Amino acid sequence: MANTKINMLGNGPLKVEGDFSITDPNGNAVDCKQTVFLCRCGESKNKPFCDGAHKASGFCD
Ligand code: FES
Repeated sequence: MANTKINMLGNGPLKVEGDFSITDPNGNAVDCKQTVFLCRCGESKNKPFCDGAHKASGFCD
């Protein structure tokens, strides 16, 4: 059984921890750590990862 935890951070990214992989639109693996923060505001310049831009954009969930 996969052991992956996803936590929605308030007014911010999705925190993903555990066993998972990320692939780009072409199916290529994206190098990432065991814990990542995925952007859900659309403002990151480093998608799919959060770069903190949600704070300045005023993103509200
Ligand atoms: S959620 Fe942090 S930059 Fe989008």
